[in-house]
Amino acid sequence: MDIVSAGFLRLRTVMNIAVLGAAWGDEGKGHIVHSLSSNYDWVVRFNGGANAGHTIYRDGTKYVHNLMPSFDWRSGTPKAFLGSGMVIDLEQLHKEVTALWGVNSLLPSRVYVDPDAFVVLPEHKELDKQLNGHIGSTNRGIGPAYTSKISRTGLRIRERMYDADTNRDQHFIKEMQRMGVHFKGLMELRREMEDTSILFEGAQGIMLDINHGIYPYVSCSESTVAGIYSCGFHFARPEKVYGVAKCYTTKVGEGPFPTELQGDDAQNLRVRGNEYGATTGRPRRIGWVDVPALDYACQKGGITNLILTKFDILNGMDRVPMCVAYEKSPVSSFDFYDAKPQYITVPGWQDAAKDDSQLGTFIQKVERLTSCAVSYISCGTDAKDVRPW
Ligand code: IMP
Ligand code: MG
Repeated sequence: MDIVSAGFLRLRTVMNIAVLGAAWGDEGKGHIVHSLSSNYDWVVRFNGGANAGHTIYRDGTKYVHNLMPSFDWRSGTPKAFLGSGMVIDLEQLHKEVTALWGVNSLLPSRVYVDPDAFVVLPEHKELDKQLNGHIGSTNRGIGPAYTSKISRTGLRIRERMYDADTNRDQHFIKEMQRMGVHFKGLMELRREMEDTSILFEGAQGIMLDINHGIYPYVSCSESTVAGIYSCGFHFARPEKVYGVAKCYTTKVGEGPFPTELQGDDAQNLRVRGNEYGATTGRPRRIGWVDVPALDYACQKGGITNLILTKFDILNGMDRVPMCVAYEKSPVSSFDFYDAKPQYITVPGWQDAAKDDSQLGTFIQKVERLTSCAVSYISCGTDAKDVRPW
């Protein structure tokens, strides 16, 4: 949509989009968001916390953001916003802001934090370690912090700012304010955001969503499009909701994973794809692309378009296996527990970055079975490797 702004004719795109994980997290959202972000005024995180590990390559250097939105700070445009649906470890945020400040002391003034977000306390992290057993949590205190919130004993950043007692969090908040970070909610920012373009950056993936993921093997936040509205962004509806998925599948932590590979097959792909957790370093579980799970995620997550990543990792395969159905189609998350995948193989590709014409059969299959158009593909870690399809 083009707008005419006061006094002079200015053509500008005012379209909000969302980029969500369409699987179990680690789909390459950080890389995609980073490469699209310079076209947007804001990059907004709305769910989760430092359990996320969003990997970005800038000028050949690798960065992992846990709390900071994946905005491209080399471009003058985007500002970063951390929404009220997140749970924020202020010590970790302070660390990431300090790193930003180290790059350029003006950058923290492009970061905004909603003081209605709840804080993660050291005891939440401790509790996570004790409870971790059966889920395989990242131990970042996410579950216990959301539990405190829901049981009405949680603390918001706002309370940590004005607490009469001095506390550790207050120290981190003051330090971040000194570096330029703004602690402002949507009531204050709405006017400023209304006529701008926003890129909503999801964390985790639909299969880990608290409502629609494979319970109880889930994280504790909303990773569907609903998470955006829970934060109060009713005025900024995303017109396109992109779901990101790899051309194969990975998962960390416990729980059903229908297309999982074992032994050497898994290990070879793990090494080729460098599939080790960005947050915890754990080896990721590996499997072939799971189109029924992707279809489920698109429907449950409100996804309208797909972005497929890491095609370069499968370079050189003669044929590529795809799971195109289960014996019984999943209608609820429960159906993933005993899913029996059915596979086909499609022609492989030699070098996805040089010649993407060979990806056609794979992509058409995904499009046909999910009823979602594939809009972008990624064939490498550089921003130029993300291409419209
Ligand atoms: P928690 O969110 O740390 O409580 O972890 C719950 C489950 O979600 C575990 O299986 C984690 O491995 C998984 N998980 C949480 N965040 C991410 C992520 O950003 N990427 C991939 N898996 C995640
Ligand atoms: Mg990750």
